[in-house]
Amino acid sequence: MSKEEIAAMREEYGSRELRRKDLLPDPIQQFEQWFSEAREAELHEPNALTLSTVGLDGCPASRTVLMKFFNEQGFVFYTNYESAKAKEIEAVPKASILFPWLPLERQVRIEGGVEKVSVAESLKYFASRPRESQIGAWVSNQSSVIESRALLLNKMEELKAKFEGEEIPLPEFWGGYRLVPERIEFWQGGKGRVHDRFLYSREQSDWGIERLAP
Ligand SMILES: Cc1cc2nc3c(=O)[nH]c(=O)nc-3n(C[C@H](O)[C@H](O)[C@H](O)COP(=O)(O)O)c2cc1C
Repeated sequence: MSKEEIAAMREEYGSRELRRKDLLPDPIQQFEQWFSEAREAELHEPNALTLSTVGLDGCPASRTVLMKFFNEQGFVFYTNYESAKAKEIEAVPKASILFPWLPLERQVRIEGGVEKVSVAESLKYFASRPRESQIGAWVSNQSSVIESRALLLNKMEELKAKFEGEEIPLPEFWGGYRLVPERIEFWQGGKGRVHDRFLYSREQSDWGIERLAP
């Protein structure tokens, strides 16, 4: 593909609109509505989000994780508590998450503080995972440098044998984080690049809403 072809890649947006009057006063309810629409539109993994943390050297770091729960308290994902992202969150407990629902010409950006969920909450989710994924959590020393794939596969076999006929326990180095939103922005692509953006910001117990220039 030529450089010119890449430069010429563009989509016209405007299949939908987002107007002030359409917004629900609570951004979590607004998120719920858009999330339902993303599911109804059969988007692939609509719960996949880009999680950006502040790297230990101050450089932002992004990766995809899966949202496994959300409510008024925040947005929950699960990971290894010794991974690079976890170390970054422990150092600076703030993050930005982004849902790229591109076929709907939408994105949702959420920023806020990050906290660990309770062990009880992690345990409940862990217990709902397929056995193979439970063992997977034990196998991977996530983000560390490894010699080969074979090491992981051997460890998987070892652990399968070790836990044979038993419930897989929740590793103490694995669990959930909750992003507690301070700001939530809904973006809807518009005709001629006149997009709609609405930013909800937390104001004590309530939310303020502002329209942002696209
Ligand atoms: C679609 C998709 C879903 C993912 N879901 C998760 C997840 O829920 N939790 C997780 O720890 N990693 C998940 N990953 C892997 C992460 O993107 C990342 O590679 C891993 O967490 C290590 O990141 P870190 O080294 O920055 O900690 C997912 C990757 C993709 C592409």
